[in-house]
Amino acid sequence: MSPASTAVTIRRPDDWHAHLRDGAVMAAVLPHTAAQFARAIVMPNLKPPVTTVALASAYRDRILAALPAGSDFRPLMTAYLTDSIDKAEIERGFADHVWVAAKLYPAGATTNSQHGVTDIRHIYPVLEVMQRIGMPLLVHGEVTDHTVDIFDREQVFIERILLPLLKDFPALKVVLEHITTAEAAEVVREGGPRLGATITPHHLMINRSSLFEGGIRPHLYCLPIAKRERHRLALRKAATSGAACYFLGTDTAPHLAHTKEAACGCAGIFNAPTAMQAYAQVFHEEAALDRLEAFASLNGPRFYGLPLNEGKIRLALAAAEAPQDVEIEGDRVVVFAPECGAAWTLSAA
Ligand code: DOR
Ligand code: ZN
Repeated sequence: MSPASTAVTIRRPDDWHAHLRDGAVMAAVLPHTAAQFARAIVMPNLKPPVTTVALASAYRDRILAALPAGSDFRPLMTAYLTDSIDKAEIERGFADHVWVAAKLYPAGATTNSQHGVTDIRHIYPVLEVMQRIGMPLLVHGEVTDHTVDIFDREQVFIERILLPLLKDFPALKVVLEHITTAEAAEVVREGGPRLGATITPHHLMINRSSLFEGGIRPHLYCLPIAKRERHRLALRKAATSGAACYFLGTDTAPHLAHTKEAACGCAGIFNAPTAMQAYAQVFHEEAALDRLEAFASLNGPRFYGLPLNEGKIRLALAAAEAPQDVEIEGDRVVVFAPECGAAWTLSAA
């Protein structure tokens, strides 16, 4: 494939970080993720959070029941870690193949994280178990100390929490989710095969100035918040490098428009309808379409120890209809970067 290629065929991709929500919102957004991906790691920050095997199993059943007819999409469930979570429950859910990983939300870091972990030491016994059984820890990497500037919270998390954690658990598999800084990309690359990172389409396309372009842009607000341009460029370099430690995770996070277009708007970007088209655009711009398959379809399953998907998809630079916002119960969820969905077409190959 020449760097100037305008089409690429790759093995079916997976989304290693998705918020599918529940109820009417799930029913409306799920078909978009299922149309793009064979599998997705499903985040557990529901109300109430997914803290037990029974809750995860019931949530998985609701997702499967809401899939469009004929879809073979497979949700991969996760556990929500709390200060008091039972380590035996974590082990049982993993042994029974109900969940494949556990998510660390520092309490207060983001949407529905109020039941999260207040001090990493509280879950050390759980992390011992996860290290022993090979269960990955998925990390929202931001400190919750509000004296730390919001644009520094990932970097400070790396110094204060992540690096000591990696030292204390030398064999624990860890994914630093939705990385936003050059420093995170570097730490992950140096962290060897047990440390990985997901990178979203939006953090490859926007920087912090984008949030204020011509006025405040609530639909570009997510956490961790987009950083300076130098970080966006470093993330593009990392994602398109082909390095095994970086893999696709959209962090698609739907919120109804009225909750984002508000005096105190919710964090989260809904990108499920345009995710692969957006990644294709970035890889094309970086003359790296030949490395899209590694990022989207190979590195993630290898990290998790799961089989690669059968089947192929094709992405081509060809005009298509721009995706519409998703209507839900009299409101809508606004789609990220509809222009990518209008420029690139996604089809089964
Ligand atoms: O922007 C975000 N939205 N970041 C998160 O960490 C959570 C997510 C959500 O659930 O809405
Ligand atoms: Zn997320």
